[in-house]
Amino acid sequence: MADQLLSTVSRKLRSLPASYVRPESQRPRLHEVISDAAIPTVDLGSPDQHQIVAQIADACTHYGFFQVVNHGVGNKSMRLMMEVAQEFFQLPAEEKAKLYSDDPAKKIRLSTSFNIRKETVRNWRDYLRLHCYPLEDFTPEWPSNPSSFKEVVSDYCKEVRGLGFRLLGLISLSLGLEEEYMVKVLGEQEQHMAINYYPKCPAPDLTYGLQAHTDPNALTILLQDHTVDGLQIRKDDKWIAVGSHPHSFIINIGDQLQALSNGRYKSVWHRAIVNANKDRMSVASFLCPSNRVLISPPEKLLSEAGRAMYKNYTYEEYYDRFWSRNLDDEHCLELFKNASSLESENQASSSSGGNQS
Ligand code: OGA
Ligand code: NI
Repeated sequence: MADQLLSTVSRKLRSLPASYVRPESQRPRLHEVISDAAIPTVDLGSPDQHQIVAQIADACTHYGFFQVVNHGVGNKSMRLMMEVAQEFFQLPAEEKAKLYSDDPAKKIRLSTSFNIRKETVRNWRDYLRLHCYPLEDFTPEWPSNPSSFKEVVSDYCKEVRGLGFRLLGLISLSLGLEEEYMVKVLGEQEQHMAINYYPKCPAPDLTYGLQAHTDPNALTILLQDHTVDGLQIRKDDKWIAVGSHPHSFIINIGDQLQALSNGRYKSVWHRAIVNANKDRMSVASFLCPSNRVLISPPEKLLSEAGRAMYKNYTYEEYYDRFWSRNLDDEHCLELFKNASSLESENQASSSSGGNQS
């Protein structure tokens, strides 16, 4: 049902169709969003590794998000990635229809909203989702239109994977672990990509590009057009709008790093809102533990905390659970909490941020 793609139909719509309108209590309340806050910026080109590690510890503890500059991924690679993403969504409807699927199990698919088989209200977003590691297993199925797509996206994926592994090293150090710890424990990591297209929207205050959620994977690396805001994160019970420097990436901790840090680092609620006047694109790269990896924090962090916050589970179990729910249900990690930590936690602080949006 590729005729559902917004990139095909949105220009013809004068008002927001009812299927996208959130009930009053779930709307984004844009006038309440803090627009002049900033997330921490980490300069990865700094010669002072101690400072980098300290900044990352602080950002992961208090924000779950940070921005990186001088990160080693080429400006050209970032620019070409954005350009080819834009070209892709401008292809004729017949061309895009070939890739359309609403089956989340597929390793390449073009779809709309989030999970249209389950959700009751739509999101104002189209997305192309790709598996990206090992590249040679997946590129044969990738689009060959635009003609540069495979090459540009492959190059970009390799560079981003390098950055992700470096960040996992710094994150390990910031938890007082050996640098290789997370990379070892996460196994042969999968890499997925969501190329998100949020067309301009007739009523941004009634709907979302992507409603509040946390990312189920380990680490997310987001490239966004810095000229169009849209990403917002939950901080101190408020939504804050996240702008970005040109040439930067926005990094966030996913649920698995929250679990592996025994809850010290936060996988924070975030959402994308849409704009009345401008289209927005973002490219999210997700590093994911391999399916059979047991998610279990290191002894050092357990003894420091005096208890295990979560039960041990495999990533496969987690991922199945995540996709069987609605995106803005309670934090999926809550379902894996240990009874002892449930009792001692204040329920208010562990409740969902998603339904307060
Ligand atoms: C995501 C996501 C935010 C954005 O794809 O998981 O949070 O700004 N995207 O597109
Ligand atoms: Ni996300």
